[in-house]
Amino acid sequence: MTQQVHSIAVIGGDGIGPEVTAAALEVVRAAGVSFTTEQFDLGAARYLRDGFVLDDETLEKLRGFDAIMLGAIGPAIGDNRIPGGTLERGLLLRMRFGLDLYINYRPFHGVDGSLAQGCDFAIVRENTEGPYAGEGGVLRQGTPYEIATQGSVNTRFGVERCVRYAFERAAKSAQPKVTLAHKTNVLTYAGDLWSRVVAEVKGEYPGVEVDYNHVDAACIYLVEDPQRYNVIVTDNLFGDILSDLAGAVTGGIGFAASGNINPTKSGASLFEPVHGAAHDIVGTNRANPLAAVSSAVLMLEHLGEIEAATRIARAVRDFDGDASQLGTSGITAHLLERL
Ligand code: IPM
Ligand code: MN
Repeated sequence: MTQQVHSIAVIGGDGIGPEVTAAALEVVRAAGVSFTTEQFDLGAARYLRDGFVLDDETLEKLRGFDAIMLGAIGPAIGDNRIPGGTLERGLLLRMRFGLDLYINYRPFHGVDGSLAQGCDFAIVRENTEGPYAGEGGVLRQGTPYEIATQGSVNTRFGVERCVRYAFERAAKSAQPKVTLAHKTNVLTYAGDLWSRVVAEVKGEYPGVEVDYNHVDAACIYLVEDPQRYNVIVTDNLFGDILSDLAGAVTGGIGFAASGNINPTKSGASLFEPVHGAAHDIVGTNRANPLAAVSSAVLMLEHLGEIEAATRIARAVRDFDGDASQLGTSGITAHLLERL
């Protein structure tokens, strides 16, 4: 069998983004996966240089790749030259919506010493709807009678495909369980839709236990009893918030990986560490590439490179070096030795 050569679009982005994506790709290469890369200069630095965020042509080009690896996007803290939303809506969300990356999959493993030590669970976050959809607007802006609305969009189609994905994921684990996190007691319209869809899809997965938590209670359980979770399924905004908390209780978002996934593959899926650009440590060899490497593992799973994904995941899991001593290059070397 000839080996498949995957085409990967690389958006290193800002700050430490290029450093961690380079390290992750080095590990992927060493695991024996064949791929070509094309670099895309996008993010805060690019915007500040020439005002470019993302156009239709570039988006269409990105669609054609087998996967997209993203490092980090954003200016340095305190640099207020970019209006809020420019890069979030114009670049990141535009790719999520435009490429129909309707799942935001974030797996967590509680590292030693963390609150959730030894726990494994994942958040399946709907990634194209909710309050992120951009519904709403302002009237009478700047006057005492200003009105701002920002509705949450929940379609039957969007909720169902997300819930199905969560059940599929859970069904593959040793103790299959899906927990819906929502706020059905207050958000009665959207909550009812999510609850009914979960109840319906549940019928097709008799082996999967189903639970429900109000999202505020889920915040307590994530801290006090994280072992209760296997797959948490939730909407876009709750998922955004819960995944930061999940990152914090499992060892810090420095370890957290994410996949913005289009399971139908009608657009290239995008894989990125959850952490930010950390401009303060650029070029100092202090960036920890483990979250980028774990994101690459998700990419390899998506590309069907299961064997390489498993080996790299094991190397990350077994990592026992002193990250702050080893630095970017040392951590990468440590992983390469253990492949
Ligand atoms: C994330 C980020 C994004 C989000 C921002 C940067 C738009 O916080 O990926 O979790 O809110 O989804
Ligand atoms: Mn977030």
